[in-house]
Amino acid sequence: MSKTALITGISGQDGAYLAKLLLSKGYRVIGAMRRSASLALARLEYLGIARDVEPFHCELLELTNITRMIERTKPDEIYNLAAQSFVSASFDQPIFTVEVTGLGAVRLLEAIRLINPGARFYQASTSEMFGNASRSPQDENTPFRPRSPYGIAKLMAHNFAVNYREAYRMFCTSGILFNHESPLRGREFVTRRITVGLAEVKHGHRGHLTLGNLDARRDWGFADDYVEGMWRMLQHAEASDFVLATGAATSVRRFVEIAARQFDFDIAWSGSGTDTIGTDTKSGRVVVRIDPEHYRPAEVHDLVGSPAKAAAQLGWRHKTSVDELAVMMALEDDRRVRDGITAY
Ligand code: NAP
Ligand code: GDD
Repeated sequence: MSKTALITGISGQDGAYLAKLLLSKGYRVIGAMRRSASLALARLEYLGIARDVEPFHCELLELTNITRMIERTKPDEIYNLAAQSFVSASFDQPIFTVEVTGLGAVRLLEAIRLINPGARFYQASTSEMFGNASRSPQDENTPFRPRSPYGIAKLMAHNFAVNYREAYRMFCTSGILFNHESPLRGREFVTRRITVGLAEVKHGHRGHLTLGNLDARRDWGFADDYVEGMWRMLQHAEASDFVLATGAATSVRRFVEIAARQFDFDIAWSGSGTDTIGTDTKSGRVVVRIDPEHYRPAEVHDLVGSPAKAAAQLGWRHKTSVDELAVMMALEDDRRVRDGITAY
C-alpha cells in the first residue's frame, strides 16, 4: 500500500519540489496550506503537480487545525517545512516568527505525540542556527550561536524535535540545511533578487539593481537536490540530525558576476561600503548599487557546511554546483521577465 506524506509549507519552494519527488515515488501527498485570499499553488502548477497534491487548510498558529489534520490524514511521514523563513523579516516580526517558526513546530509535535506517535517527522532546520560559527565548515556537532529571531526560533524547533526523539522515542529527524535555491525561490532572497533584478535591467524595466552586503558568503545548493536528502532522512533506520550542504561557500558578489554573464553583462566593482557600484564594462552602465535598507541589524557573514555524515549514512550528495544553479536561475528569469510572467 502506498504511504501517505503530509507536507506543511506546500506552497513554498521546498514544498513544491518535495511533493514532486514523493509523488514520483508513489506517495499520497497531503499539502498543508494556510488560508489565503489568493490561490497559492503557482509553484505546484509550474511543476505540473497542482492536481496531484491533496490540499488541507492548516494554519500553524491554530492548534485545532493541526490536530484535525493529523487525525484525518493519518500520515506515515510528516515534513514540517512551514515557516516565516525570511531572516530579514524576522527582525521586524520577532514575535510572529517565534509563533510560526518556533511554536508552530511544537504544536505539530504535540499533536503527533497525542494522535499519531508512530509517524516519522522531519523538521526543516537551518544553517542560520550556527550564526557566526566558531568553526568552519559547520557540521552536526558545531555549537549553535543564532544571530536572528529566525535563527533563534528555528533553534527552538530543532531542540524540541531532539527532545521528542529522546523523551518519547518518536522518530523526529532534524535536517540542518544550508541555503538552497531554484527558479522557484522566493523573490526576497538574495539569489532570486539578483537574477530577477538583472533580467529587469536587461529588458529595460529598471535602471539598476540594489543589494546589501556583497561580501556575505553562503553555501548555495539546488533545492531539488536537497529534497531528495529530506526523503532519505526519513527512510534511514534511525532518527538523527543531518547537515545537507555542498561544502563550498560563494560570496554574494561572485553570485552576481556569474549570473550577470548570462545577461551579457561583465561586472567590474569599484568604490567601497555603501558607495560600491557594479559597472558593466561593455556598456559602461551601472548595473548594481548598494542600498543599506538591505543590511541586517546582525549579519551572518560566512556559512559553509560539511555534508560528510549525510554522505556516509544516507548516500546523499549534491548534484548541482553554484555556477550551474546561478545559470539555471538567470536563464529562467530572463525568459520570465521577457514574457511578463510574475506568478513566482
Ligand atoms: P518558503 O518558500 O518561504 O515557504 C514557507 C512555507 O511556509 C510557505 O508555504 C508558507 O505559506 C508556509 N507558512 C508560513 N507561515 C505559515 C503559517 N502560519 N501557517 C501555515 N503555513 C505557513 O520556504 P522554503 O525555502 O521552501 O523553505 C522550507 C523550509 O525550510 C522553511 O521552514 C525554511 O525556514 C527552511 N529552510 C530553508 C532553507 C533554504 O535555503 N530554502 C534552508 C534551511 C531551512 P504561504 O505561501 O501562505 O506564505
Ligand atoms: N535577501 C537579501 N537581499 N539578502 C542580501 C541582499 C539583498 O538585497 N544583499 C546581500 N544579502 C545577503 C544577506 O545579508 C545574507 O548575508 C545573504 O545575502 C543571504 O541572504 P538571503 O538570501 O536572504 O538568505 P539567508 O541566508 O538570510 O536565509 C536563507 O537561508 C537560510 C539557511 O541558511 C533562508 O532561506 C532561510 O530560511 C534559511 O534558513
